[in-house]
Amino acid sequence: MQLQEKSAIVTGSARGIGQGIALALAREGAAVVVNGLTTDSCSETVNQITAAGGRAIGVGGDVSKAPDVEALVDAAIKHFGGVDILVNNAGIESTPCLLHEMSELQWDQVMGVNLKGVFLCCRAVLPSMIARGRGKIINISSTAGVRMTFFGSADYTASKHGVTGLTQHLAWEVADHHINVNAICPGGVLTPLMEQHTSAEFRDKLVKRLIPLGRFCSLEDLGDAAVFLASGKSDMITGQLLAVDGGLLSGFGEDLRPLVRQRMAEAKAAKKSEPGEHPPS
Ligand SMILES: NC(=O)c1ccc[n+]([C@@H]2O[C@H](COP(=O)([O-])OP(=O)(O)OC[C@H]3O[C@@H](n4cnc5c(N)ncnc54)[C@H](O)[C@@H]3O)[C@@H](O)[C@H]2O)c1
Repeated sequence: MQLQEKSAIVTGSARGIGQGIALALAREGAAVVVNGLTTDSCSETVNQITAAGGRAIGVGGDVSKAPDVEALVDAAIKHFGGVDILVNNAGIESTPCLLHEMSELQWDQVMGVNLKGVFLCCRAVLPSMIARGRGKIINISSTAGVRMTFFGSADYTASKHGVTGLTQHLAWEVADHHINVNAICPGGVLTPLMEQHTSAEFRDKLVKRLIPLGRFCSLEDLGDAAVFLASGKSDMITGQLLAVDGGLLSGFGEDLRPLVRQRMAEAKAAKKSEPGEHPPS
């Protein structure tokens, strides 16, 4: 076990990639604070960890709100004595649309969770990591944090590029304290988020034409990358972006714009019948 005696916070770990990472860290011996928008939503992940003999608690809270984030970190310190590993995973996407048709609310929501959330969580854990002279911060960015991979999602691309910059900047700021800050850039992962925001045809073409290794990333692929960056085996690695993308970023790929335009038209038609904007829960 590589993470015995360590404690971790994984934001947005009620489902999807965050859940996979929480389970992987727990399998290596870490005590995990599971986070989702509500405490109830964390139960499934917490139960899976404890059923396998691990330690976990669930703490509901919105990463874009400073008081929620402070409560999350306080709970980790109270239950597990500190935070050795922070995985900033919580993230949202909006329905694809062109930038000139994007509402200010949509922009603010995506930036609020994807970028401000990372800032708030890092800010909240750093005093205790600095006091202990160690820590591992892993930001879940995206291939969209390196280059535009999702046409029709300028808000998402900008937010993930922000996460990339923040990762590199913070790595320098805290290096003296032996705190490593790295990012994982997943390519396509079949999670509820991906299913909600793409069509089946888009997903099929993405895998067959844009990902050289010919499959979506699994939750295990990402869990393994997170365990590596959380463990002592990556002590000399900081400020890096680790693409876990089956090779997506290595090529130019095919232009999937027609499919996204079709998806935008469908979304517009659907929006007419249900007004209002809600972030995925
Ligand atoms: N799925 C992909 O293909 C893919 C690719 C690249 C990057 N990512 C990134 O990986 C991360 C996880 O994505 P996913 O596909 O597992 O998404 P998901 O929607 O399946 O799960 C996201 C989790 O975050 C929680 N969450 C949402 N907003 C929150 C908030 N404000 N505060 C706390 N928790 C919140 C949700 O409740 C959910 O549990 C995101 O940052 C996403 O941008 C995903």
